[in-house]
Amino acid sequence: MSSRPAAVLLVVAALATPALAATGEYLFHAAGCAGCHTAEDGPPLAGGRRFDTAFGTFYSPNITPDRATGIGGWTRERFVRALKHGERGDGAAYFPVFPYPSYRLLSDDDAAAIHSYLQSLPPQHHRNRDHDLPWWLARWMLHPWQWWFMDDPPQPPADAELRRGWYLVDALGHCGECHTPRSSTGVSIRARYLAGTRDGPDGEKVPNITPQPRDGIGRWSADDLAYFLETGALPDGDYTGSLMSEVVDNTTSRLSGEDRAALVRYLRSVAPVEGP
Ligand code: HEC
Ligand code: HEC
Repeated sequence: MSSRPAAVLLVVAALATPALAATGEYLFHAAGCAGCHTAEDGPPLAGGRRFDTAFGTFYSPNITPDRATGIGGWTRERFVRALKHGERGDGAAYFPVFPYPSYRLLSDDDAAAIHSYLQSLPPQHHRNRDHDLPWWLARWMLHPWQWWFMDDPPQPPADAELRRGWYLVDALGHCGECHTPRSSTGVSIRARYLAGTRDGPDGEKVPNITPQPRDGIGRWSADDLAYFLETGALPDGDYTGSLMSEVVDNTTSRLSGEDRAALVRYLRSVAPVEGP
């Protein structure tokens, strides 16, 4: 008779896996994984997108479940360690162009759900180029970097009403990876949280999105912001360009209305800071 609980468990597990993958799919979009891991005209999520940075040129890896060239066969633990701790299977560290300094704020359950979703996708056999880095930059240097800069993660706001919005901005949406300026060691400057920068990714200007009335979003209504995040339309009727239109397409337009409202509420609550 002991086979009945086992059978029930099997059924529960079979039902739970697609449900977890569906949760993972929503989180995957909210975390904006797709754009970085898909090259122009390349197979989806098979990597190869190029990132020119002050620290060299990086190419994203294949995150489809192909065993030879992707993350097929990765255990959940290995995946969660990569996403949240920037740690490779062999113990070496990832470069923070992979925004794990933001993803470390994800819950383990959410990271695991993203893993389930990725494992449910079709594998793409596709090998990518190695990074092209200056002679002085090596992976081993990342361990002291992580040790030094990742010990003190940002804390969620005390107000429970703002926590979901914070999670969407800081953990999933990693908005600060572009909107918060960095020090010369590549670390986000907390006192200038979301205040914008003149030298963002691709060397372009990234605007101030704190509620500062002069050059931030202080004069935008909550509806302006929600509409912008859904459609990319600015209050003056123009459309956002470049990197942000990708964020809108891949990420903020795919959030539920409730989540978008939570994100807006949080964004309007952060400390106003003068732009760059
Ligand atoms: C801003 C671009 C960017 C975003 C956003 C991004 N990644 Fe990556 N990811 C990279 C780069 C670049 C690397 C390679 C880092 C290195 O080689 O040290 C990487 C590495 C990885 C790896 C390690 C793969 C391997 O073969 O070792 C995994 C897994 C991964 N990313 C999954 C994700 C997931 C899941 C998301 C969304 C939650 C995501 N990435 C979002 C750029 C990005
Ligand atoms: C990959 C980099 C990147 C990420 C990630 C990113 N943004 Fe942006 N964002 C930009 C750039 C660049 C612009 C300016 C686009 C332009 O010049 O049209 C912008 C513009 C904006 C604007 C319009 C501000 C204005 O004054 O015009 C808002 C609001 C905004 N982003 C919010 C967000 C939020 C919220 C997130 C996280 C969910 C986010 N961004 C994530 C790069 C980014």
